[in-house]
Amino acid sequence: MKIITTIAEMQQQMLRLKSDGRTIGYVPTMGYLHEGHMSLMKKARPENDILVLSIFVNPLQFGPNEDLDAYPRDFERDHQVAEAEGVDIIFYPSAEEMYPSKASISISVVERTDVLCGKSRPGHFDGVGTVLMKLFNIVLPTRAYFGLKDAQQVAVVDGLIKDFNFPIELVPVDTVREEDGLAKSSRNVYLSEEERKQAPELNKSLQIAREAIESGERNPGQLIRLMAEHINDHTTGAVDYIEIYSYPDLKELETIKGKIIIALAVKFSKARLIDNIILEAE
Ligand code: PAJ
Repeated sequence: MKIITTIAEMQQQMLRLKSDGRTIGYVPTMGYLHEGHMSLMKKARPENDILVLSIFVNPLQFGPNEDLDAYPRDFERDHQVAEAEGVDIIFYPSAEEMYPSKASISISVVERTDVLCGKSRPGHFDGVGTVLMKLFNIVLPTRAYFGLKDAQQVAVVDGLIKDFNFPIELVPVDTVREEDGLAKSSRNVYLSEEERKQAPELNKSLQIAREAIESGERNPGQLIRLMAEHINDHTTGAVDYIEIYSYPDLKELETIKGKIIIALAVKFSKARLIDNIILEAE
């Protein structure tokens, strides 16, 4: 396994591999790898000749009051995980390498961002779009793997690939959960012991909404009320949002119908957790 830290070397390697006719599977991450990230690598490994993992905590996608400096990092451990998952190349650039000077062009995501995390994290998806535009041009992947835990990110990447004609196949991967239902996240380490016990209630509230839909409830407002009540009764977290939209276009719904996403974000003392389910309603 190679670790590459410069853009020039990475591009050179990738161009060589591509001209040899190799297919490239790519898993972009911010590191502190857990089983969610591992599931992306496990899916990508057999589908491609070469597996590339990038680890880069992208400053552009963090707001001024967010957790950029505190974001957990452990390269040694990540290195071992990558080795065990059969990664061929880790791209591990510094912030100076990725952003050596003030950019002269910026990416602004204009669709699907006025809802969910886009609304509560202004500029976040512009930062994600900008870094992925760069990473795609550096890694030159055949396929790129993204987790549906960040379903809005998947929708935004779908737009980026189509709008800018990247010859890349987007592969969405299901959310990996702890045994008690909590979605795996690098941010779960910020939870206090008490909050960690409460955190599975977020997924439980999604299951309550799913069951209500199965029992015939079709009113989005009523489903949101049910979920908010459950979270407020069973956790000390503060609801940032609970929203229901059509998926993947993220449009508002008057009634539950077709493919939908039910998504939430809840703030605990040191961690903001997100989760969602995507389902097909009759
Ligand atoms: P990061 O939060 O490190 O996540 C990297 C990838 O792992 C994303 O595609 C995310 O959806 C996926 N992932 C995280 N937790 C998961 C889980 N429990 N189950 C399945 N997949 C999971 O997302 C980012 O980094 C960044 O925004 C990035 C795309 C790297 C751009 O900077």
